[in-house]
Amino acid sequence: MGINVPLKVTITGEHAVVYGYPALVAAINRRIAIKICVRPDREIRITSRGVMIIGDISLICSEESCRGDVSPDHVERLFSYVLKAIEIASKIFGDLGGLDIEISSGVPVGSGLGTSAAISAGVVAGYSYLAGRSVERKDIASIARRVEIEVQGAASPMDTGAVSLGGVLLVKPLETEVFKRVEPKKALEILIAITPKKRSTRETVSMVRDLYNRRKTIVDHLMRAIGEISEEASKALEEGDLKTLGELMNINHNILRALGVVDCESEDIAEIMRTAGLEGVKISGGGWGGAIIGISRDRSRLEQALNSLLETGCTAFISSIDFRGIEYEEILK
Ligand code: MEV
Repeated sequence: MGINVPLKVTITGEHAVVYGYPALVAAINRRIAIKICVRPDREIRITSRGVMIIGDISLICSEESCRGDVSPDHVERLFSYVLKAIEIASKIFGDLGGLDIEISSGVPVGSGLGTSAAISAGVVAGYSYLAGRSVERKDIASIARRVEIEVQGAASPMDTGAVSLGGVLLVKPLETEVFKRVEPKKALEILIAITPKKRSTRETVSMVRDLYNRRKTIVDHLMRAIGEISEEASKALEEGDLKTLGELMNINHNILRALGVVDCESEDIAEIMRTAGLEGVKISGGGWGGAIIGISRDRSRLEQALNSLLETGCTAFISSIDFRGIEYEEILK
């Protein structure tokens, strides 16, 4: 059984969405592939291909213990989501016994592109399929969110919603309809640069929580402003007004700086993008490394910025929006 899950960028609204304010998120046409099959014994065998910067690694779990060629840090970054997804899915869909799971990605975990959400959603979707259950994408998203909450301590519905449903979504965590589909008037291409993550999402969410607890009124104003930015950014995208969208992304980036989640290396990359003439530049995701995104009305500027980034040795690419969301495929043996 194969599952294919897109990654995502946060156009505006990360961190504020954890406090219930709106965020604008888009699935991108870079995907994670997960193969999942039932084993005749009770072992869980997980292989990761390219998901870590270091290449292929494996983990084998029996009921008593796990062994494999992974350091505790890597276990925390990748396999904790897989094992938690299996634990939660088995409670909901019934025990399937042992499993072989293979995860392939060209983008490393923790790059700020929703890799952990994609892995959680992909394992939940694959598990439910093998258990013979037909589950809607929005329900996959909400089960995968439970996985993220248990592993990270806190998680908004944004990342798991984006990777499960695909397309562009205005996420409003406090409303009954959490995900509102946004139809961009013009095709949106996004330049994405990736830097090594210096702090996990769990850590950056907790740093912002500490600041919020110390300066509640001020930080709440900042969060509210980010929420308003996301509402306006969604309108700008629907009207095809990329200039306004870019301006809103720039304001959002500077609020994220004020919240203390933008490290120097990410700021240097953002500056290269601005110098190449991109109209909107911001970090995407929890911050302290990960993804930096940029947009422009002019494709040649995106290409110019991409070339400048590649010249510095940075990992970068241009991506368009994915409208397919999570997909299932039978694997022919
Ligand atoms: C992480 O991709 C985005 C955060 O807003 C956390 C979340 O939404 O759960 C930082």
